[in-house]
Amino acid sequence: MKRIKAIYPGSFDPPTNGHLDLIERGSKIFDELVVAILRNPEKDPLFSLADRRQMLEAMTAGFDNVSVDTFDGLTVDYALRVDAQAILRGIRAISDYEYELQMALMNRKLQPGLETVFMMPAEKYSYLSSRLVREVAQLGGSIHCLVPELVEQKLREKIDVAHKFASSGEAGRQAAPQRKPKGKKKS
Ligand code: PNS
Repeated sequence: MKRIKAIYPGSFDPPTNGHLDLIERGSKIFDELVVAILRNPEKDPLFSLADRRQMLEAMTAGFDNVSVDTFDGLTVDYALRVDAQAILRGIRAISDYEYELQMALMNRKLQPGLETVFMMPAEKYSYLSSRLVREVAQLGGSIHCLVPELVEQKLREKIDVAHKFASSGEAGRQAAPQRKPKGKKKS
């Protein structure tokens, strides 16, 4: 019997409950699902690749047919390398559709044998994005129920470190000796 392997590519910065919802749905229809984190040197992610991998591994530990990997370059090339037949992507709202369609058609142009499969996460996650989670967390809002507990904890740690760093920089600047005005050198 033919086994279908799919990849679920993305940035996952950070992974959210919406991603987890889609992983769960994907794990039910594909024999094997690889969550593939893009290593994109042009983006400046909040979380390192290692952090994102660790979070996703913990989140997916309960699924026998789900694994986590990282990749760079074209998604279609990665899919071929791991012998996947499908790319899973989530569509939350009609606003996602245009971009996702464009990507799916470009991927089909590059690799006609590879199918993109769209799935919708639960409605309660239809407004959820990694970008909004980062923003709300950085500005002190609650992200409880939007991300798994581990991710919430990691976000808090990151933000605490950033705040400490910012305030020590401020204190450092205040404590730093003032530059002498340019003038005659002391003899
Ligand atoms: O989570 P994201 O940021 O929406 O994921 C976007 C992603 C990683 C799927 C997309 O940027 C991608 O596939 N990048 C890899 C490079 C590539 O294949 N580009 C051509 C896409 S048509």
